[in-house]
Amino acid sequence: MTSYAKPIVALDFERSGEAFALARRLSDDCHFFKVGSALFTSAGPNIVRELRDGLGVDVFLDLKFHDIPNTVAGSVRAAVALGTRLVTVHAAGGKAMLEAARDAAASAASPECGVLGVTVLTSLDDASLASSWGRRSLEVRDEVLRLAESCAEAGLHGVVCSGWEAEDVHAAFGESLAVLVPGIRLGGDEAHDQRRVVTPHAAQRAGARYVVLGRTVTAASDPSSAFRRVLIDLAKDTVDGMPVVG
Ligand code: C5P
Repeated sequence: MTSYAKPIVALDFERSGEAFALARRLSDDCHFFKVGSALFTSAGPNIVRELRDGLGVDVFLDLKFHDIPNTVAGSVRAAVALGTRLVTVHAAGGKAMLEAARDAAASAASPECGVLGVTVLTSLDDASLASSWGRRSLEVRDEVLRLAESCAEAGLHGVVCSGWEAEDVHAAFGESLAVLVPGIRLGGDEAHDQRRVVTPHAAQRAGARYVVLGRTVTAASDPSSAFRRVLIDLAKDTVDGMPVVG
């Protein structure tokens, strides 16, 4: 049986009014939104409360924390106190940092917040990854698997990787590590600055538990209909074609 990937729309706006208006417009169909660093830096933590309390939706706080363990633990505690359901840290931050993030999330009373380790950004390919890490050659896939292993050892909820590596990560770690896939494009859409893009259906087939929809929905001339196209794409494997997503 196919398990359905949960769609999350990335509110990559610099003005809270614009972000909130789009979330409200989509909130009948979409119940999970991502707040990233651009929106958080301009709007502050209130945007998370407004989305949760005003629209009753779940929030993924994608601030990709990467710092010493004590600082990351404090950041994760603050994210949990805001009521976020998912939060990201960089998997390359080291074992102690990943464990500190895990412990900080676990120490919260409720609701539950999953910590995801960002492996290799979807905007990087083999050549740009090797150049940024000062190595002659590197394969994204190997690095993603190596970093996913650190996340699994640290007991994180899951990892962020592209749809190109999702299947390998899912095969290696199964349900013990949730896979979140950004860099999603509907057929015919532009890749923009992303290098490793896939369709919603391909990400789901590769084992994604969550898919993040950015410009393929938010920059569409009609975001509501683009989001519905995503649901239809995710439902491709069903018999009656009805999307069964939360
Ligand atoms: O507009 P687009 O679909 O390219 O946006 C992708 C979203 O996923 C952005 O919000 C970006 O910050 C996020 N993301 C990513 N690659 C990662 C982690 C997060 O593209 N590895």
